[in-house]
Amino acid sequence: MSMIKIEKVSRNYKTGETVVKALKEVSLEVDAGEFLSIAGPSGSGKTTLLNLIGCIDGIDSGEIYINDQPISGMDKTQKTTFRRNNLGFIFQTYNLIPVLSAYENVSFVLSLLDIPADEIKRRTYEVLKEVGLEGMENRRPAKLSGGQQQRIAIARALVKNPQIILADEPTANLDSKTGEEILKLMKKMNEKHGTTFIFSTHDKMVMEYASRLVLLHDGSIVSDERRQ
Ligand SMILES: Nc1ncnc2c1ncn2[C@@H]1O[C@H](COP(=O)(O)OP(=O)(O)OP(=O)(O)O)[C@@H](O)[C@H]1O
Ligand SMILES: [Mg+2]
Repeated sequence: MSMIKIEKVSRNYKTGETVVKALKEVSLEVDAGEFLSIAGPSGSGKTTLLNLIGCIDGIDSGEIYINDQPISGMDKTQKTTFRRNNLGFIFQTYNLIPVLSAYENVSFVLSLLDIPADEIKRRTYEVLKEVGLEGMENRRPAKLSGGQQQRIAIARALVKNPQIILADEPTANLDSKTGEEILKLMKKMNEKHGTTFIFSTHDKMVMEYASRLVLLHDGSIVSDERRQ
């Protein structure tokens, strides 16, 4: 059984009279623990696909199963709970809360779950240390570099121990050296915790780190290649 099974999924966007077929009957199966990159040119459907897997956007036809559970049947509350319990997100623009410290940006996620205060503290410090932010816990995002801000976002995604982390162009706002460090960190977390990572990119360097590379073009998968 695949952890994620995408079956002939389509997503159309209507703008006025025109319909954009953002995804055309895409099928894909992802196993637990994969480190998978979704690549393709601008407009090929990468963000659309990640948003569907992440239950952020709705499917027009087809189905996505996560752990055998079809996601199209879930109502809004079920989707929110599902996201909270199973998924972590990393974004191109970090999406941190500017008035909160690094520590608070991460602990906030746990405070939404039913977790005792001392455990929240322990887990937050531990994950911030893991991503290399020890000693920077009290700084606000604006007082940190882009790479450090993305490390907070990785810590925030990891702290719940989700099965799946979805990352939409996580290195697009970083210089290539910092981007590579972030990729190495993601890979390390994938290996250490067995977390499944699905990340989109149009950067060749980022694709090099993937253990599986799925290429999208005009809303269709045109290649699916496993490496090493
Ligand atoms: N909210 C929307 N309304 C209308 N069209 C949309 C919307 N979101 C995406 N599209 C269209 O759907 C197609 C796929 O878009 P998507 O954002 O998934 O591409 P992408 O591969 O993530 O591109 P990029 O690399 O630029 O981020 C594009 O043609 C885009 O214009
Ligand atoms: Mg995109």
